[in-house]
Amino acid sequence: MNTKIIERIERLKREKNAIILAHNYERPEVVDVADVTGGSIGLLTAAMETSADLIVICGVDFMGETAALLNPDKKVIAPVKNVVCPLARQLTKKELLDAKRKYPDANVLLYMNSSTETKALADCVCTAGNAVRIAETMDGSSPILFGPDHALSYYVTKRTAKEIISIPDHGMCPVHHKITVKDILKAKAAHPGAKIVAHPECNPEVQDHADYLGTTGGMLKFCADADAAEFLIADEVGLINILEKQVPNKIFYPVSNTAFCRAMKKPTLVKIEEALENERYEVVVPREIAVDARIAVERMFKCS
Ligand code: 13P
Ligand code: SF4
Repeated sequence: MNTKIIERIERLKREKNAIILAHNYERPEVVDVADVTGGSIGLLTAAMETSADLIVICGVDFMGETAALLNPDKKVIAPVKNVVCPLARQLTKKELLDAKRKYPDANVLLYMNSSTETKALADCVCTAGNAVRIAETMDGSSPILFGPDHALSYYVTKRTAKEIISIPDHGMCPVHHKITVKDILKAKAAHPGAKIVAHPECNPEVQDHADYLGTTGGMLKFCADADAAEFLIADEVGLINILEKQVPNKIFYPVSNTAFCRAMKKPTLVKIEEALENERYEVVVPREIAVDARIAVERMFKCS
């Protein structure tokens, strides 16, 4: 059914020397036309390594913005304008400035899922995969202001002796927040031999039940390498599609079917074709925040 539009997308990619990058949570048909799929850090790495002139990024806004600020010589476009990650908007510039004033000696470590204007005020950015390592490299006994995800802050606090202060107090991903311990126990009762794999954006109580916690890329690797045949996935439901595609010899069960990220499902084949055809919507980060945000993101790559 999609053959014609896929052919047109492939032709446009060749004509414009374009590449499509899609996050692991994107729709299956978007994943199928992507040149690279991955977690947030995987997409950034692909954006930096490609020789393409035009990068179409299917994900939420901070992903496109971070790719754009790291690649000022390439044109980065998003098929849909302003796809906001509800977690990223939970820490405002004002809250961050207030926290910095309250804790003048603190370092600021922000999750990748934060706005670009707050990244510009951070010492370093991190993903769930490198947050602990980066926290450990931050100087001495200074506390670390960490945001915006309280669940990830819990994950880091459990694994480091550093003092971690969550900003805001209870920032959370509304999608991962829907996955409950009750869901985990129910899924485990139905599949007692399966390993529990979870994203650290899940609630602390859910994290405490997991056999493995990590980024979307980390979860894919764990499932591929683990000596187990069945997995219970406590994550956004889109990850199941990627797991089934990339690890076809194993079985994956979503812990909850309600963990659905609407923002990540906004790009469609039609929107991707329009984006390639018209080279829109170009992601442009204002210069006054791009320079400092880039420094904080580059520090992440240096430290991890
Ligand atoms: P990853 O960095 O693990 O790909 O996660 C991004 C995300 O938005 C999870 O909700
Ligand atoms: Fe943001 Fe949560 Fe969606 Fe990830 S799953 S993009 S953190 S709302």
